[in-house]
Amino acid sequence: MANLNRKVAVPAEEIDRQREFMLLVHDISEARFLSQGNYPKAFVRTYGCQGNVADGEKLKGMLEEMGYQLVDSPEGADFVLYNTCAIREHAEDRVFGNVGALKNNKRRNPSMLIGLCGCMMQQEHVAQKIKKSYPYVDLVFGTHAMHRFPELFYQALSSHCRVFEISQSDGVIAEGLPTHRDGQFKAWLPIMYGCNNFCTYCVVPYVRGRERSRQPEDILEEARELIAHGYKDITLLGQNVNSYGNDLQNGIRFPQLLQKINDLDGEFRIRFMTSHPKDCTHELIDTIARCDKVCNHIHLPVQSGNSRVLKAMNRRYTRESYLSLIEYAKQKIPNVSFTSDIIVGFPGETYEEFLQTVSLIEQVGYDSLYTFIFSPRKGTKAYDMPDPVSQEEKGKWFRELLAVQEKIGEGKYQALVGKTLRVLPEGPGKTGEGYLTGRSDSNVIVDFPGEDSLIGKFVNVTITKALNWAVLGELR
Ligand code: SAH
Ligand code: SF4
Ligand code: F3S
Repeated sequence: MANLNRKVAVPAEEIDRQREFMLLVHDISEARFLSQGNYPKAFVRTYGCQGNVADGEKLKGMLEEMGYQLVDSPEGADFVLYNTCAIREHAEDRVFGNVGALKNNKRRNPSMLIGLCGCMMQQEHVAQKIKKSYPYVDLVFGTHAMHRFPELFYQALSSHCRVFEISQSDGVIAEGLPTHRDGQFKAWLPIMYGCNNFCTYCVVPYVRGRERSRQPEDILEEARELIAHGYKDITLLGQNVNSYGNDLQNGIRFPQLLQKINDLDGEFRIRFMTSHPKDCTHELIDTIARCDKVCNHIHLPVQSGNSRVLKAMNRRYTRESYLSLIEYAKQKIPNVSFTSDIIVGFPGETYEEFLQTVSLIEQVGYDSLYTFIFSPRKGTKAYDMPDPVSQEEKGKWFRELLAVQEKIGEGKYQALVGKTLRVLPEGPGKTGEGYLTGRSDSNVIVDFPGEDSLIGKFVNVTITKALNWAVLGELR
C-alpha cells in the first residue's frame, strides 16, 4: 500500500544495486586481506538517540556483508565510521574532539579510511567545516544517503578521492538492509522515521526529513523474526510514535500497531519511544492498559511545566492537558511509571516559569528524567530568540531541578521495596560477585544474586533495598 503524500520507499532494484556494491567491496577485501587469512577491521561508533543506534546497526550489518570484522576500538582499524548526533552543541563538540584524535591514528596507519555520517553531516555548515578543516576524513554522508553506504564506501576505497554525499531530501524508507544487532535479548525496531513537529529548539526535522511510516507488514515481519531469534525486549522507535500511520492509507495507527505486535506468539515485552504528548490519546492509553506485553512505562517528554514556554517551544499542549493525560494513564494502567525530558533555560524562560516545571515534576512523580540546558541550534527558530538569562544562572536552575528529582526518584525506588517485579536479566550486575542485572517492565535497573544461566530469561525478583541508581532484590 502506498504512502499518501509521495513515494518514500527505496525501490528493491536500488537495494539490489547496493548489494552489488557490497560484493565489489567484498572482492577488494578478499584481495587485500582475506587471501592472507586476515579480516579488514571496522570500528563504528554511534552517538545520539536510539534511532541513530538502529541506523548504526544497519551500517555494521552492511560492513559485515562487505567482509569486515567489527572491532571495539579505532586502534588498528582499517575503517573508522562515526555516526553522529546534532541535538546539542555538546554532542557535536564530542564528535569533533574524537575526529580530531583520529588524525594520529591515520598518521600511524595511512591506509586507514575515516568516515562520518548521521545527523551532523546532514547540516551544510558542518559538512563544509569537515571538508575544509579535517582533510584526513575520506567519506562523509548524511542521513538520507545511509542506504547508499556500500556505493559510497566503494567509491572511497577504489578512487582514493574524498567522497561527500549530503544532498537534501524529505527522506526515504529503505527495507531489506542487513542488520548487525548489538544486543542478544534487547532489540530496536524502527517503525517510522523523520519528524514534522518543528519544536522551535530542535534540529531533528532539519536533519531527518519528514515523517514517514514503515508498512505494518514490514514491521510485523521484523518483529516475528526478532521473537524467533530469542529477542525478549523490543523497543519500537520513532521521534513521535504517536503519529505512526498518519501518512499511510490503510487506517492503521499506533494503537492498532501495538495491538498487532502484542498479538504475536511468544514471550516478550514491548516498549516504545518517543511518545509526543500532543498526540497521546486515551485510545493509546487504553491500548497500553489492555495489551499484556506492552510495558507499563511511558516516556512522555514534557520539556517544560509552563504553558507560555510550551507555546514558545511549539509543543502544542499545555501544562493542564499534559497533567490530565498523566492522570488518565495513572487511573487506567496499573503501576504505570513515567520518565520525561526537560529543557532548562529555553530563551526567555523566567525563574518563575522554571519553578512551574519543578512543581510539575513533583506532581507527576517521574521515575527519572533526562534534563538538558537549552542549546542553540543553527537554523531553528529558537536560535534567534532573545536569551537574556546567563549560562551560570541556568546552571543553578538545572542543579535545583536535579536535586528535586533525586528526592522524587528515591521515594519511587523506596516504594518498590517488598514488591515483586518481572525482570529480564541481561548480564553480570555491578553490585558484586554472583549478581545479575536487568530491567523491570517499568524500566528500573534491578540487581540480584543469580546464576548466569538465567540471563535472557524472565524472572520474578522481590525488591529488598533501594539504591539511588537501581534497586536490589532476591529471586522469588
Ligand atoms: N522526539 C522526541 C525528542 C527527541 S530529542 C520528543 O519530542 O520528545 C531528545 C531530547 O533532547 C528532547 O526531548 C529535548 O528535551 C532535548 N533537546 C532537543 N533539542 C534540544 C536543544 N536544542 N537544547 C537542549 N535540549 C534539546
Ligand atoms: Fe524534535 Fe520536537 Fe520532533 Fe521531538 S517532536 S524530534 S523535540 S521537533
Ligand atoms: Fe541526535 Fe539525530 Fe537522534 S540529532 S538525537 S541522532 S535524530
